[in-house]
Amino acid sequence: MKDAIEASNLAKTFVTREGGLLFRGKKRVVEALKGVSFEVRRGEVFGLLGPNGAGKTTTIKILSTLLLPDAGDAWVNGYHVVKEASKVREAIGVSLYSDRGFYWKLSGRENLLYFARLYHLDEKTAKERIKYLFELLDLKADADRLVEEYSTGMKSKLNIARALLHDPPILFLDEPTIGLDPNSARKVRETVLELKKEGKTILLTTHNMFEADMLCDRVAVISKGRIVDVGTPSELKSKVAEHKVVEVTLLGFDDKVTGKLSGVQGVIGVAARVRDPVAGVAEVKVVYDGDSSIRDILTLLLNESLKVLSVKNLEPTLEDVFVTLTGERLEES
Ligand SMILES: Nc1ncnc2c1ncn2[C@@H]1O[C@H](COP(=O)(O)OP(=O)(O)O)[C@@H](O)[C@H]1O
Ligand SMILES: [Mg+2]
Repeated sequence: MKDAIEASNLAKTFVTREGGLLFRGKKRVVEALKGVSFEVRRGEVFGLLGPNGAGKTTTIKILSTLLLPDAGDAWVNGYHVVKEASKVREAIGVSLYSDRGFYWKLSGRENLLYFARLYHLDEKTAKERIKYLFELLDLKADADRLVEEYSTGMKSKLNIARALLHDPPILFLDEPTIGLDPNSARKVRETVLELKKEGKTILLTTHNMFEADMLCDRVAVISKGRIVDVGTPSELKSKVAEHKVVEVTLLGFDDKVTGKLSGVQGVIGVAARVRDPVAGVAEVKVVYDGDSSIRDILTLLLNESLKVLSVKNLEPTLEDVFVTLTGERLEES
């Protein structure tokens, strides 16, 4: 049997005009995907890990037939996403981060019943399925409250429940825990693992390295429309296991500092997260060779007109794989 999902050289460019539709301003061309390829095996939880703008949502939209690729091919459940789109749709459930398409004046249960009818589920099957999904997502107590009273976490869980109504073998979850309170986020992560046990194939996107590490069998690291590496979380981390990681909080930071740090002997990757652009407060992560010394790094920083506020040694994580491969950090301030 073919892989559950196969993406081959997907490309997508967006052309927009600054100023919107009325004021025809300068053309802006964004190459969102520049040839993205990967495979997801059946029963696997596969993560697309990358920062904002990397191309994660675009990839999910193409695979779930919501957007046409400019070039490349993809198959989901063995069907081509462009030529056999309706077959693909039968096999998938999609929960997009931006999607809040619920009826606010209906209860959670009524909303799901409505969508179940759209899927042509018979009434009895629908009711049982909905009961099961409310239990799975820990929404039982809120099932009969109006959606307008739902918290963000409850709406996100309802969104996942909706994606699962027709019991599809393949599930797409776009940033399933972004903006959620810790309890809802935990519940969503537990649900992903529960669904994996049921045998579902799950493709999720995240910019949270802990989430990718915790949930995913394999992770594709994506940056600026390209997949830069794929592997199990431990395979990816083993690539930086020989490295050391230090995070320095600086006052008076500017962009030149990262360039200078990159030039220090033994430094493999540098990336900054600016906390306060006016004062120049930044947390700068430096991945460096295990054999070279931290002294060279600190000497450089102490010679600049900078103030070192703190220095922390860190265990290598998936973010350090990312820093090493791309020179970016996963989460901005
Ligand atoms: N409909 C669109 N029109 C114009 N640009 C878009 C559109 N959708 C996405 N983009 C751009 O494509 C790039 C990738 O976006 P996206 O796939 O949403 O990234 P991610 O989900 O990883 O944050 C970004 O630069 C984004 O601004
Ligand atoms: Mg996105």
